[in-house]
Amino acid sequence: MTKVNIMEFFPQYNKSDEVRIIELKALINKYDNAYYIEAQPLISDREYDSLFKELKELEQKNPNLVTPDSPTQRVGSDAIKEFERIQHEKPMLSLANTYSEEEVLDFDRRVREALPNEEIKYVAELKYDGVALSLKYRNGKLDCAVTRGDGFAGDNVTENVKTIKNIPLSIADVKMNGNEIQNFEVRGEVYLTEKDFLRINQFREETGEKTYANPRNLTAGTLKLLDPKLVAQRPLKFVCYYFDSDEIKRESHFDNIKLLKQLGFPVGESVKLCNNLDEVFNFINGWESKRNELAFQIDGIVLKVDSISQQEILGTVARSPRWAIAYKYEAENAQTLLKGITLQVGRTGIITPVAELEPVFLAGSTISRATLHNADYIKERDIRIGDTVMIEKGGEVIPKVIKVVLEKRQPNSVPYSFPEVCPCDLKSPISRLEGEASYLCTHPECPWQIRRRIEHFASRNGMNIEGLGEKVVEQFVELGYLKNVADIYSLHQHSEEIKNLDRWGEKSTVNLLDAIEKSKDTSFHRVLFSLGIRFIGEGSAKILAKHFKNIDKLKSATIEELNSVYEIGNKMAESVEQFFHNEKELEIVERLRTAGVNFQLKEEELVAKDMTLSGKTFVLTGELSSMSRGEAKSKIESLGGKVTATVSKNTSYVVVGDSPGSKYDKALKLGVQILNEEQLLEIINN
Ligand code: IVH
Repeated sequence: MTKVNIMEFFPQYNKSDEVRIIELKALINKYDNAYYIEAQPLISDREYDSLFKELKELEQKNPNLVTPDSPTQRVGSDAIKEFERIQHEKPMLSLANTYSEEEVLDFDRRVREALPNEEIKYVAELKYDGVALSLKYRNGKLDCAVTRGDGFAGDNVTENVKTIKNIPLSIADVKMNGNEIQNFEVRGEVYLTEKDFLRINQFREETGEKTYANPRNLTAGTLKLLDPKLVAQRPLKFVCYYFDSDEIKRESHFDNIKLLKQLGFPVGESVKLCNNLDEVFNFINGWESKRNELAFQIDGIVLKVDSISQQEILGTVARSPRWAIAYKYEAENAQTLLKGITLQVGRTGIITPVAELEPVFLAGSTISRATLHNADYIKERDIRIGDTVMIEKGGEVIPKVIKVVLEKRQPNSVPYSFPEVCPCDLKSPISRLEGEASYLCTHPECPWQIRRRIEHFASRNGMNIEGLGEKVVEQFVELGYLKNVADIYSLHQHSEEIKNLDRWGEKSTVNLLDAIEKSKDTSFHRVLFSLGIRFIGEGSAKILAKHFKNIDKLKSATIEELNSVYEIGNKMAESVEQFFHNEKELEIVERLRTAGVNFQLKEEELVAKDMTLSGKTFVLTGELSSMSRGEAKSKIESLGGKVTATVSKNTSYVVVGDSPGSKYDKALKLGVQILNEEQLLEIINN
């Protein structure tokens, strides 16, 4: 990585905030491009963060200088109520699918018949399995982002799309035939890598939230979130495959892709200009075997006639262009023996049947287990132990059993009957809630649930107790040392026994007890997350901790109070309220508190919040519409700012309401920064 001393290139002395903001935006855009598009970082994360922080601070100081294309605007704007519907200038078409070489040959024949005696070149691209998106740029800036919708009109998801790091908010200066390219449309696909998909899904599962079947669904769900701040937490990516502009004459699709790259857009991992069908088939076959090496999912190849004028002659039929087709790969599948069906019990008691398979190689990895989802899934497909089953790794990253190979069924096989009891030692009856597909174990002492809850509590994102991993938790639950998370803090009472256990000794026991001791000091929001309250993930735990500041205030909060907290929805509010009305949970919380676990925001967390405006002096003049001057004063003071009566050159801001007095003129004379009410609210609410 090349180290760049930014200060050397951009000394800050004597520079107005405005100039520095422009410089910082250009620098950050350049480094974003290097990092997110070229995958070649130019500076360290630390240097990047420091530039970003500087920009943010300067913008906070000068709210009037914040532009929509500033990199700071990627963090997500405020929540919206619903998406506006926007008409596409040209419809967003879909592609006809083909599945065989013959069909590709047919396509080529049709193209040649329509364009007799012309030379035909094709462009072959990967078919990204994501969500189509149209981006409009005006005067070089991202103006509007719209989903495909029904092909004619889609949802305006601009605020969400601004959070996608590899989409330029403004573009590089590129000239074509002497003209700058400023107004144009780009289309492409938003997607998530498999790794990010798995990570997000796993996290959702742990927090009891709905999981998604594949990266495409999760991408679509994310783009439709009404809160851009939540979108910003998901590492969506974009790749483009279409460019259109009235400003320049476009002759070749391949050149368009090159132009997009020049303009700073991410283009496909592999885009090939093919002079003949042999090259097309090489591309198709080459990627069929290599597609498992990609970090993201593709479901085929797209083949396009390269010449735009030829595309225009070919035109479209029934919402698909005649100049392009998709060649779809078969979902990869394999046959193997279903050796058994085991049940998994989650932290919240949900029971998931799992297929135990004879290991088989599929789509780049060896598979020995696959999900069977729930009892209905098994029943509908009449899946029996001892059957040869077909497993598939298609759009879904987690392999699944799709069907039984009936020809190979053994004559003595019997239908599978779903167990009526939990697989744990208590063998308590399991039941299905009305309308739910999953069985649930509701026994409060189910050791499997206890294990999962303790694992979650001790996990890295939770209390981070090193040495208390899955195996140890299982062992300690079996030995009766742990019956709930509070017992962790009484483990020292068993230290002599632990020392003498197999694979344990003096040192490992002391280390574990030290780690447990250390965990008492975990920050409040992580303690809250560790409690495993349904629907409360890391993000919502942080919000609750920040809002209520300590466990007592949170415990006594009503559903209405919880609900009124920004970003805490109904389901979360109900779940929190239920948790703190459950005597067993309350007892555990009390035991944790007595053991010394931290249940409040720490001094520095409280101070950090309160001091946002420290060092800033405000003067208020004129009438404000959303609050009285007194209220504004106490709000500013509660954030560490000072409110004074007279304007001087040391005043940071003069807030100007309706019918301002002479303080306004003085501020203008002295060149003090002026804020209107809206800008003040923005500062306060940030
Ligand atoms: S071209 C008229 N190129 O596939 C041509 N589409 O079934 C329009 N897709 O809605 C699209 N990768 O969401 C094109 N390299 C690629 C693509 C691609 C994925 C998606 C796109 C489109 C769907 C068509």
